[in-house]
Amino acid sequence: MEKTIDEKVQGNALELAPKQKNTRKLFIESYGCAMNFSDSEIVASILSEQGFNTTQILEEADLVLVNTCSIRDKAEQTVRKRLEKYNAVKRDINPKMKVGVLGCMAERLKEKFLDEEKIVDMVVGPDAYKDLPNLLAEVEAGNDAVNVVLSKDETYGDISPVRLNTNGINALVSITRGCDNMCTFCVVPFTRGRERSRDPKSILKEINDLATNGYKEVTLLGQNVDSYLWYGGGLKKDFKSASEMEKATATSFSQLLELVATAQPEMRIRFSTSNPQDMTEDVFHVMAKHKNICKHVHLPVQSGSNRILKEMNRQHSVEEYLTLVNRMWEIIPEASISQDMIIGFPSETEEDHQDTLALMEQVKFAFGYMYKYSERPGTMAARKFEDDIPEVTKKRRLSEVVDQQRKNGAYRTQQFIGKITEILVEKESKKNPDQWSGRNEQSIVAVFPKGDYKPGDFVQVKINSCTSATLIGEAVS
Ligand code: SAH
Ligand code: F3S
Repeated sequence: MEKTIDEKVQGNALELAPKQKNTRKLFIESYGCAMNFSDSEIVASILSEQGFNTTQILEEADLVLVNTCSIRDKAEQTVRKRLEKYNAVKRDINPKMKVGVLGCMAERLKEKFLDEEKIVDMVVGPDAYKDLPNLLAEVEAGNDAVNVVLSKDETYGDISPVRLNTNGINALVSITRGCDNMCTFCVVPFTRGRERSRDPKSILKEINDLATNGYKEVTLLGQNVDSYLWYGGGLKKDFKSASEMEKATATSFSQLLELVATAQPEMRIRFSTSNPQDMTEDVFHVMAKHKNICKHVHLPVQSGSNRILKEMNRQHSVEEYLTLVNRMWEIIPEASISQDMIIGFPSETEEDHQDTLALMEQVKFAFGYMYKYSERPGTMAARKFEDDIPEVTKKRRLSEVVDQQRKNGAYRTQQFIGKITEILVEKESKKNPDQWSGRNEQSIVAVFPKGDYKPGDFVQVKINSCTSATLIGEAVS
């Protein structure tokens, strides 16, 4: 089945330009969504001011940080396994090593982590990274340190991330934090707090700096990018009322997208994640207008059954979803769309499941991330519903959904056969060292013989064949 970034590991950190005077060593690794990977770059930046350079060697680290994910139980189990590994290293090789837990598991389990996992010295929630210098001082004084306070306004807009594990081509730029949507299955509103938007000036500055440093593609990140709204700036005294001020100075997501696309016309712009209930048509118009905004929308739908969508508190019906998608294709015919699906949500019947397959058949998503429902403690679904779909049924339905996706993915990739599509070269193909791998605007992966091209090049590639998820071709430019 297709893997989400959730279950991938960033591996160890690689810092491009370590600070000369820094003597302490930080090993940081990230699990979960792209936002966690982006947050780790903020953490590395904050700690670089405290004398830390990153290392890729766990055994030599003075400080080990793991940025954690709580989205499904399996993600948490993966982190527990890593903590066992750190424990072994601390016991057998490096007894002075300190261990901190960051991210969503830190926020969810709080002080309990210190009892459950004796190896952990420090627990830091997603909004508390600026407190790391103080927390570190506590740890160095021999105490445990915990800060899991959530914030209404922290966006880390003033921090220049240290790019970790970078290929120097693609970068993540966070634009919103938190989520107010309260889907009943989802732990994110509890672990990442209220939704807030980052000052467009600081976003533009970060992107301009990336362009100066040779980056070719940015992904604007948020749990729910379409609800981006900045109404700061402007002098209060100039406005008659607070609401007038908000209206006059507001920057919406489509306006931000336009600002970014115009500021860096040579850079590819992507964004993720969109939410059907918050996405508006103006975003499609901006995408259509700017050549450098990639024609791809990741638009999770979660289920094809209206009854289940209601139980999920999704605020959109299947029909509204389809209307939105069809409108997108009217405005941007070449756009691709990808999905997230949850399989086996409480009370999901065979008929609900068939509705999901039917919706997939209708939309023909280019790719997607499909997972069995995992009950998360504290969520509305955990409180209200019994996790009543047997594991064997969840497994069978998941494999049917994955097969359906494979079929639809193949349909989408086949449309490119015989055509020329522009690929941004990102890395060597994992399967064949003689080939480059990159993505087209539609976010579909393509491989082709290396020739004289190098990572970071935009290459016109003629597609000769494909699998359900990969285009195979040759350069023609
Ligand atoms: N808006 C977010 C979504 C966060 S969760 C974003 O930026 O990506 C990512 C996906 O995980 C969701 O779309 C959903 O399909 C899945 N997910 C969330 N909670 C889940 C749960 N309890 N069990 C199974 N899958 C879940
Ligand atoms: Fe989670 Fe729904 Fe927000 S999936 S991140 S609560 S849009």
